Amino acid sequence: MEPYHLRVLRWLDPRRRVFGEELSRRLGLNASAVSKSMGWLRSQGYLIAGGYPGGYRRDPGSEFLYPGEVAPDLKTRVFGKRINYFSELDSTNALARELASAGAPEGEVVVADSQNRGRGRLDRVWISPPGVNIYFSLILRPQMPMERVAQISLLAALALARSCSRVWSISPGLKWPNDVFLGGKKAAGILSEAQGDGGGVRFVICGVGINVNLDPGDLPPEVRERATSVSAFLGHPVPRPQLFRAFLEDFEEIYYDFLIRGLSPFVPEWNRLSILEGKRIRVSGERELEGVVVGLDPSGALRLNDQEGKPRIILAGDVSLITADKEGKCC
Ligand code: BTN
Repeated sequence: MEPYHLRVLRWLDPRRRVFGEELSRRLGLNASAVSKSMGWLRSQGYLIAGGYPGGYRRDPGSEFLYPGEVAPDLKTRVFGKRINYFSELDSTNALARELASAGAPEGEVVVADSQNRGRGRLDRVWISPPGVNIYFSLILRPQMPMERVAQISLLAALALARSCSRVWSISPGLKWPNDVFLGGKKAAGILSEAQGDGGGVRFVICGVGINVNLDPGDLPPEVRERATSVSAFLGHPVPRPQLFRAFLEDFEEIYYDFLIRGLSPFVPEWNRLSILEGKRIRVSGERELEGVVVGLDPSGALRLNDQEGKPRIILAGDVSLITADKEGKCC
């Protein structure tokens, strides 16, 4: 993006109209440059109401994740200090993997406004339309054995829950292993993929997909009933850069603490937010199993008591609730 378009963008405010003259004065631009900027920003998908002479106002929820929009207010030391932005990619995880293989440092991020081959867990498709959601992959280089990589996804989900409650005072639920739920429906998922190096981790790609301003009615019917977005839950549009920054800040804090102290200190908070705690579930995967969830164990595996009341540990698999929860919602 040309620097002066970005400077114009930063002066546009969702809460009030800004007059062209004010923009010209503050930014040292003539009227034609201001109007050219508005045209360019609109062509990029920004929703800007008004014009000359009544002033311009940016619609809330139409912000993009350009590095220039995200970086200025980002309070991190490492995460997101370099952001590679694309309007469309096949999958941010795929490009992040290439960059990490070529030596990209911890904290570097790949963001896309849309993905044409977004991937979820268990080889599922991650629906990734443009202009509404957040899709990104964060490169991490933790020194740890490969068996612990799944813990990073658990913590990324926890970080996102913390961000939502810090910024919007809401309490998302967590569904093992790494889904974030709002009002009984899935709003975000995490796909962490790692490459090893002689038993240890060489790098981890932590891929995060968040439904932010998506209208769940735009999803295919088979997904619609089970999915939501942050804005659908809150009832108003959500600025994507604000949520993205909050997540990078919260996850950075959690991650560096985790590298020193391990997963255990986070287990009680995770269990408190878990939508499965105390619920009867079915685990599908290599082994089919039913039981009542007891919580995370210190390694991040799911503890449950099976139908005979025998304690079981689930390391991987897909989990579904058998009984409707208190609100009658199910996943
Ligand atoms: C899941 O819940 O199944 C995980 C979904 C992960 C989706 C994100 S979007 C950004 C990154 N790129 C991908 O292709 N997938 C992850």
